[in-house]
Amino acid sequence: MKVSVAPSILSADFLHLGKEIEDVEAAGADLIHVDVMDGHFVPNLTIGPMVVRALRGITALPFDVHLMIEHADSFVHAFAEAGADLITIHAETGYHLFRTIDLIKSLGKKAGVALNPGTPLAIVEELLPLIDLLLIMTVNPGFGGQAYIPSMTEKIRAARRVIDASKRPIHLGADGGIKAENAAMVAGAGATILVMGTEIFQSGDYAAKISDVKRRIGESKPAV
Ligand code: DX5
Ligand code: ZN
Repeated sequence: MKVSVAPSILSADFLHLGKEIEDVEAAGADLIHVDVMDGHFVPNLTIGPMVVRALRGITALPFDVHLMIEHADSFVHAFAEAGADLITIHAETGYHLFRTIDLIKSLGKKAGVALNPGTPLAIVEELLPLIDLLLIMTVNPGFGGQAYIPSMTEKIRAARRVIDASKRPIHLGADGGIKAENAAMVAGAGATILVMGTEIFQSGDYAAKISDVKRRIGESKPAV
């Protein structure tokens, strides 16, 4: 199964955000991961739909918008109109996950659900018929540059089994602390989208880094 690399622009140079996106696209990125934080659900503030709209024209790559916000329903339309292709909400943020996922789908967008490290996988069971992405957080969300939580590899394996059993084409993402060194392990556990922030944007050579990651993914063994 193809494994995609999704650079997280949280770690990009915000003064030159457009150029950074053009550069990772040229370097072989498959998706652009956009981290949206509200200062409530996570202790950080980042960007909103206006920035997504401004960036939409500069790349052909899909925008994978990761909403780490409360009251996501109020913002789904704005991100959809701004040009998001895939909108991911956090399972912990809503009483009405099914409704929010339904709303995203009704706008013609792909829908994802993200789980914090402490959130059980079982919460996605009733959403499997609807979602296009299950995003396993491999750090506690809020900041780039944190260390991968080792016990999340087993959660990725369990998520892979759940997705396979669903027989639906659901992507399995892993987000946080993914490096060239652990990419093969994460992909081998069953992840098909690797979100990578600091590892890519703090490297001096995006193309070399992304090809190194893809080479290592090619070496990864299937989940057991
Ligand atoms: C964390 C964000 C991640 C973050 C990943 O809250 O959701 O997407 O940017 O950054 P790294 O790869 O540096 O852990
Ligand atoms: Zn993210």
